[in-house]
Amino acid sequence: MFLVHSLSELREKLAEHRCSAQKIGLVPTMGALHEGHLSLVRRSMEICAVTVVSIFVNPTQFGPTEDFARYPRTLETDVALLAGVEIEKKGKIIVFAPPPEEVYPPGFSTYVEVGGTAEPLEGERRPGHFRGVATVVLKLFNMSRADVAFFGQKDFQQVAVIRQMVRELNVPVEIVTCPIVRESDGLAMSSRNRYLSPESRRRAVTLYESLCLAQRMILAGKRNVSEIREKMLEILTPHPEHAVDYVAFVDPRTLASVSEITEPVAILLAVRVGETRLIDNFLIDRF
Ligand code: PAJ
Repeated sequence: MFLVHSLSELREKLAEHRCSAQKIGLVPTMGALHEGHLSLVRRSMEICAVTVVSIFVNPTQFGPTEDFARYPRTLETDVALLAGVEIEKKGKIIVFAPPPEEVYPPGFSTYVEVGGTAEPLEGERRPGHFRGVATVVLKLFNMSRADVAFFGQKDFQQVAVIRQMVRELNVPVEIVTCPIVRESDGLAMSSRNRYLSPESRRRAVTLYESLCLAQRMILAGKRNVSEIREKMLEILTPHPEHAVDYVAFVDPRTLASVSEITEPVAILLAVRVGETRLIDNFLIDRF
C-alpha cells in the first residue's frame, strides 16, 4: 500500500496502472474510517485493479457553525485498517491524504453549484454544503482520473447530487452506490457516532426503528405519507433531546417530495440526538 500526500505522487503511482489500461477505483472519504467506508473499499477492490482511497476533511463542505475543527482525524488508524483490507482482498490501495493547500491553493475560487437534487433537505439546512461536496468530488475525479467511484447510500442525497453532476457535466466516471452498513442494533455507521454520549447512543437506534416501522406500514398496504410520518414521529420524539429536522418521503432520483406512495420512494431523515445530528434512510422499491 502507498500513502501519498501530493497530486504529483498520486499521478506517478497511478501512471503504471493507466499505461496497462487497468481499472482505477476511487473511494472518497473524510477519514475516521469504519466498516461503512471499508465496505466501499472492498467493493472497489472486487472491480478495480487499484483503488485510490482519499482521506481529506474538506473544509468547503462545513458550515461556519459545524464540526470542521473537531471532526475526527485518525490517519494512522485509517491506514492500518486499509492495510488489513488490502491483505484480505489481495488488491492494491493508494491512500491519498492531501494537505488543504494541495486541494485549495491560495486564491482558489472555482466552485461547482448543482441545482435540483442539491436544493431541498440537506441543501436547505446546510447552505453551501453540496457546493463544497460537488467541488471536492469533481476535483478528486480529475486528480485520480478514476474509472469508477464508490459512494454509500448512507448519504442518499449526496449520491443523488453527485450522479446529477456527473450526468450534467459529462464527467467520464461510473458511479456505484453501496448499501448502508449498520451496527448490530441497526444504527447506521457514521464517523459522527463517536460524538454520542452512552445515553444518546442508546436512543439513536430510534432512527432505524422508525424507518423499519414505515417499511412495515408500506408493505402492509399503507400509501398515505402523512399517516406514516405521524407514526414515525411517535417513535422519534418521545425525548426532549431528540429534535427532528426532517422526515421526508421523496422520489429517489429527483428528491421531489411525494404525498402518496405509488412508485419507489426514499425515506430520508435527519434527527439531532443530543448534540449530534444523525441522518439515515431507507429506499423502498418493492411493495
Ligand atoms: P464520509 O462521511 O467520510 O463518507 C465517505 C463515504 O462513505 C460516503 O460515500 C458515505 O456515504 C460512505 N459511508 C459512510 N457511512 C457509511 C455506512 N454506514 N454505510 C455505507 N457507506 C457509508 O461523505 C463524505 O465523507 C464526504 O462528503 C466526501 C464524499 C468524501 C466529500 O468530501
